[in-house]
Amino acid sequence: MRQAGRYLPEYRELRKEAGGFLEMVYNPERASEITLQPIRRYQMNGAILFSDILVIPQALGQKLWFEAGEGPKLGELNVDQLHLETIDETLSPIYETVAQVRHKLKTENFDQTALIGFCGGPWTVACYMVEGGGSKDFSKVKSFAACDPDGFSDLIDLVTEASIHYLSEQIEAGCEAVQIFESWAGLLDEEMFEKFVLQPTSKMVDALKNKHPDIPVIGFPRAAGYLIQNYADQTGIDCIGLDFTVPLETAKTLQKSGLCVQGNLDPARLLAGGEALESQARIILEALSGGPFVFNLGHGVIKETLPEHMEQLANLIKSYTS
Ligand code: CP3
Repeated sequence: MRQAGRYLPEYRELRKEAGGFLEMVYNPERASEITLQPIRRYQMNGAILFSDILVIPQALGQKLWFEAGEGPKLGELNVDQLHLETIDETLSPIYETVAQVRHKLKTENFDQTALIGFCGGPWTVACYMVEGGGSKDFSKVKSFAACDPDGFSDLIDLVTEASIHYLSEQIEAGCEAVQIFESWAGLLDEEMFEKFVLQPTSKMVDALKNKHPDIPVIGFPRAAGYLIQNYADQTGIDCIGLDFTVPLETAKTLQKSGLCVQGNLDPARLLAGGEALESQARIILEALSGGPFVFNLGHGVIKETLPEHMEQLANLIKSYTS
């Protein structure tokens, strides 16, 4: 969950050299280095591919750029002009990154470190595509989905197909698990959640399981509230990523149903460090390590986080596990 990124000085250094974010994402040498950076420092058990969920709109033909300090921006959306057939022209450097990461993990003796590929959930990716970037309330995409459910479904279907292909190629290049980031799952009512989150996610999981039955699929329906149970029951995922608002009792219930759970330390505690970090990390470890569990944050690392705090957390987890 955003292990790399701006909290690491070596990332900031490489970003300066590269000149921009996308100049790192589409450069396999740089992107594989960034993927390895946190592993070299902290020896986590899982490395997450360095890329972004917004490469899918770009590969489909929508303009994408990152403005310093402002996050992602996307050009005008014209659904009829998006094209699925040629997405690999844009995405192939990312598959090459996967291959390079696997190679580096091996030569640097991180054979035990799993490489996790990812994409955005179709709903979340569509949110950015329709809004043209981030948004305070995502009202434009929600009103599109409500007024023209068929037109919006066409967009969701296209992103779903592209995402299946993209994850499948990541797996073929060497990813050992894949995660679907549904960061804006929390914006929808029950009916729209069913149509635009549950259905496309199940379709993705079915297709991936068909081709790659042994590759675990992790779903992260951020801030889904009570609907998290429907997501766990209906999508076919193997593991559920929990944001930091999910109560540990809910996590245990999900675990008892056989699902692996992943989460869910509040990144603000990692920012704080010290006792605020240690006490909550221990509570999570004690609550969940009796069942299938992957320790993780409940959202991405905050950029002001001190690297020493990550070290404190990594050491705590390693000593707890051993
Ligand atoms: O460890 C990693 O860095 C893994 C790679 C990764 C990135 N983005 C790199 C990145 C992953 C897994 C993501 C996922 C992602 N991207 C999500 C889903 C997870 C979440 O955060 O909810 C979303 C919604 C995006 C879209 C996106 N990309 C946004 C909104 C931003 C701006 C973020 C901000 O805080 O300003 C990005 C940029 C981005 N993606 C950065 C990184 C390291 C920061 C780029 C930089 O300025 O150097």
